[in-house]
Amino acid sequence: MKQNLTLLLILLFVGVAFFINHSHSQRSLSHSTIKQSSPQTPITSNDNYPLQSVNYLETYIEDIINHGSSQNLGFAYGDMEGGFADKEAAKKITAYVITLSGKQPTHPEWVKEGRTFYISNCGGCHGENGKGIHGTFPDLTRKTLLGIARRLND
Ligand code: HEC
Repeated sequence: MKQNLTLLLILLFVGVAFFINHSHSQRSLSHSTIKQSSPQTPITSNDNYPLQSVNYLETYIEDIINHGSSQNLGFAYGDMEGGFADKEAAKKITAYVITLSGKQPTHPEWVKEGRTFYISNCGGCHGENGKGIHGTFPDLTRKTLLGIARRLND
């Protein structure tokens, strides 16, 4: 009788250990799947809009917020990672960033909220006023952003 109880306890222990191990490996599997499904996508160019249009600038900025910027623009910090803001906030931040160079965004109604998101998600590097830090973080108030200027010169 005592032996049976010991056997039962051992079986129970092995079962629990197996269950924990199994759910753990499943979790790490789904984790790596998520990571693989969001690779750093390159900046997409948009042939529908002329390079100097606000529409093009909006796709450029939104794309950088979502996917980052690895354009070797010449800043000591190096690359900018994507995802400092979520996709919804990215649209609003974009509207605000457009105004930094004195342009009128497609959705002016997003500017106010976009500014708030900008200050908490981007201001740490690009500065609250958008002027960046010379040599380290790009100035977003330039009339033509560096990545756009480079495409214009191509
Ligand atoms: C950790 C610092 C950091 C944060 C936070 C950051 N950036 Fe950047 N950003 C950079 C760096 C560095 C570059 C230059 C990268 C390169 O060389 O491609 C850059 C490049 C850019 C460019 C391209 C500039 C040009 O002249 O073409 C834009 C636009 C931009 N960032 C917007 C944003 C916005 C909007 C946010 C907030 C959602 C943000 N960044 C958050 C560091 C940062």
